[in-house]
Amino acid sequence: MKDYQQAARVLRDTNLRQGLYDEGAVLMDGVLVNLHGEKHRARRSLENKVFRRGFFTHYEKEVFPKTLALTIDQFVLDGGGDLVEFGFRALINLTCDFAGIDRPQASQPETDRLLLLMRSFALGTTLAHSKDDRDKVRQQVRHALSAFDVEFLQPSVARRLSLIRQLEERSDGENALPRDVLTVLLRNEDQIELDEAQLLREMAFFVVAGAQTSIHSLVHVMHEIFVWASGDSRTLGKLRSDPMLVQRCVHESARLHPSSPVAVRRAECPITLPTHQKVETGERVVVDLQGANQDPKIFGANASVFDPNRQFDKGISPYGLSFGLGMHACIGRTLAAGVTPKPDADPVDHQYGIIALIASALLKNGARPDPKQPAEMDAKTERPNWGRYPILLGPL
Ligand code: HEM
Repeated sequence: MKDYQQAARVLRDTNLRQGLYDEGAVLMDGVLVNLHGEKHRARRSLENKVFRRGFFTHYEKEVFPKTLALTIDQFVLDGGGDLVEFGFRALINLTCDFAGIDRPQASQPETDRLLLLMRSFALGTTLAHSKDDRDKVRQQVRHALSAFDVEFLQPSVARRLSLIRQLEERSDGENALPRDVLTVLLRNEDQIELDEAQLLREMAFFVVAGAQTSIHSLVHVMHEIFVWASGDSRTLGKLRSDPMLVQRCVHESARLHPSSPVAVRRAECPITLPTHQKVETGERVVVDLQGANQDPKIFGANASVFDPNRQFDKGISPYGLSFGLGMHACIGRTLAAGVTPKPDADPVDHQYGIIALIASALLKNGARPDPKQPAEMDAKTERPNWGRYPILLGPL
């Protein structure tokens, strides 16, 4: 289904449940994106409590700049390196902050360990697209889950439970508690059902859902920017001084490169699709997100071209369907991609999203492809992601 409006209607249809992660149940069984109906509504509404007033501004303006400075300073000192590897380091921090996974040592070996575990979880989420022996991958995911539980989740749980107890005893302000998903799940104010095994999978899923998607979006947008600006110093100058333009680049690139090229759903009952096709209970429906995002009826005759100055009709998202729609619409979208600016948006208060912030910081530091080492696609997955993208930083 490549028609944008039809695809949007399918994603909003509550008679269709999630169907992309059946192969990856070892990690994905019972996690938010795999729940349906009342169970999904209850979990999502509890987890939404993390977005207390001022959450995004607090994160984007106060927490993330410090985290980013730590990662990018070293990358600049090194004169560049692999953008994919840098993306993993920068974004694992974002996703762990949001999920509620502590990194008490804040050291490189600790980040390396988390990245190793996260890469195993990523294999679990994309099992349907894996080219490896799937049972072997499942075993690897099981080992990674056990290690993550002992090394990261249990200490993070213990610290939060102690803070929650203190809050109850002293009736401290809410601000004494971390603003993250783990804290809201442990407080469980809505008293939803969530056992330890489910909590473990949910946390591992959050770590990977935030990082994996954002990393690949970062590398795609930098590539699109390099090709679009193609060394033109005026365009590069504009990109360095105009974060709104960089944000438009992020949205345009996300439209062209959705993190999964397809969404998959399963019918809960017999239904008729907007294409007039009939679907029986349990049958799969595949939505071609990549195709729908390039529907010329919506995005014009040059829909497949990267154009950050593209104009949109009212109600159309500049990133198309890349953050989903309906009940599973991405919970981290504003964090990753910010708010789509209105014409009168104030550049000082505006929320750019962390991908645009990282891309801007890289461009300000002279990011450019390394002419001696060509970038390569990731051969381990059918998803069209960059596996290695060497760049240079610093003066030309
Ligand atoms: C560029 C970055 C990102 C992209 C392209 C992206 C994309 C998506 C898409 C397409 C979905 C819907 C899946 C479906 O309909 O089957 C989704 C759901 C979700 N995303 Fe994101 N995402 C991004 C960043 C993040 C971040 C930063 C977080 C959290 C820190 C996050 C957490 C989630 C969660 C928890 C869901 C499930 C929501 C639900 O089922 O209710 N994502 N994302």
